[in-house]
Amino acid sequence: MVYRTQVGIIGAGPAGMFLAHLLKNLDIECVILESKSREYVESRVRAGLLEQNTIDIMKGLGLADRLLQEGQVHDGVNLSFEGERLRIPFRELTGGRQIMIYGQREVIKDLTDDWLARQGSLFFASEATRIEGIETSHPTIHFIREGENHTVECEFVAACDGFHGIGRTSLQSGSYSRFSVEYPFSWLGILAEVPPSTDELIYSNHPRGFALHSLRSEKISRLYLQVENDTNLADWPDDRIWEELSQRLATDGWSLQSGPVIEKGLTPMRSHMINHMQSGRLFLAGDAAHIVPPTGGKGMNLAIADVWHLANAVGAFYKKGTDIDLERYSTVALRRVWRAQEFSSFMTDLLHKRDDPGSFNYHLQRSRFRYLRISRHYAASIAENYVGLPLDSL
Ligand code: APR
Ligand code: PHB
Repeated sequence: MVYRTQVGIIGAGPAGMFLAHLLKNLDIECVILESKSREYVESRVRAGLLEQNTIDIMKGLGLADRLLQEGQVHDGVNLSFEGERLRIPFRELTGGRQIMIYGQREVIKDLTDDWLARQGSLFFASEATRIEGIETSHPTIHFIREGENHTVECEFVAACDGFHGIGRTSLQSGSYSRFSVEYPFSWLGILAEVPPSTDELIYSNHPRGFALHSLRSEKISRLYLQVENDTNLADWPDDRIWEELSQRLATDGWSLQSGPVIEKGLTPMRSHMINHMQSGRLFLAGDAAHIVPPTGGKGMNLAIADVWHLANAVGAFYKKGTDIDLERYSTVALRRVWRAQEFSSFMTDLLHKRDDPGSFNYHLQRSRFRYLRISRHYAASIAENYVGLPLDSL
């Protein structure tokens, strides 16, 4: 079967779903292809930190009802070094900007439900296999559903297909360079059925390694531990995880509540990106073009910022007949990507155990925390990056 539309979108993660809604808002048609099932996409446990920009975009699209009811607004974050906690108050340091905690899978569920309720085209279990004609004004996406071959004939292709998608390899060869940094540690993450022991996130640098206490709801907590790269989850029974978390997050007069672990997983820590996110009529967005380590909570927000620029550029093409913004898409999007790479790398270096206490790196970390204790400017710099710099400010 042949489907015809203006924008063919590959991937129904945050990048693909936000792009579809932003385009619809501009009266631009699209078809979304997603290789996995709806159940699979909506059950993946991912991060849950929404920057101010993301909150504003969801509100602007009229998709924030459940977010505003069930999400939690956070005005600050705690950074801890060897048991001493420092709070960074966002509101006063950023002129009122905030973050919200709301799971990525809830975001995806809200966007998917609304899209399907409005008869938007979205094919699950449909794997894009090839993109053709990106140097022409009518590219084609070939896909397979239930063993049958189909095509989407469109005017633009948005590859929102994540790190392992076909978008990046379909760019014109030699049109980009690649950057890749692998960290010598991973995160072991749990979702636990226990009320959070904190109102605001705690990132902790401890001689035993990094730990993070995040939240999902009044009853569900999300926590992470720095572990070795070759870690086997079987070596981490629940008791060991809780014991390690309570040691690494400890501070005077506070204790960590434990509870049943309902989900356990490993996340590798890496920075990966390409330095050109488009070729002809093919545009990449989100994880397809860049991965950041999760320490700054930037992954999903960056994907959404990309497609905000892309939707506006496609909108300018159809409404004003100009392709200047399309030509500049990669240049503009990459400014924020580099900012997020730098901030995520800074947070990763600040908070993880690299070498033993007493090493040069340890003294640098300790010095940064001492500086943070006295410097409003240093805290403000962390705060404004953490809540996200305004769209179009970079
Ligand atoms: N055909 C169709 N769909 C595909 C194909 C393909 N060939 N390849 C990949 N996909 C789908 C994946 O199944 C996935 O659902 O593309 C989607 C990409 O979604 P994400 O991986 O979530 O990437 P993105 O939308 O860029 O969001 C980035 O979400 O995944 C987190 O950590 C990530 O926070 C970051 C953010
Ligand atoms: C999460 O809640 O899953 C989360 C929060 C902050 C991060 C990473 C993950 O930096």
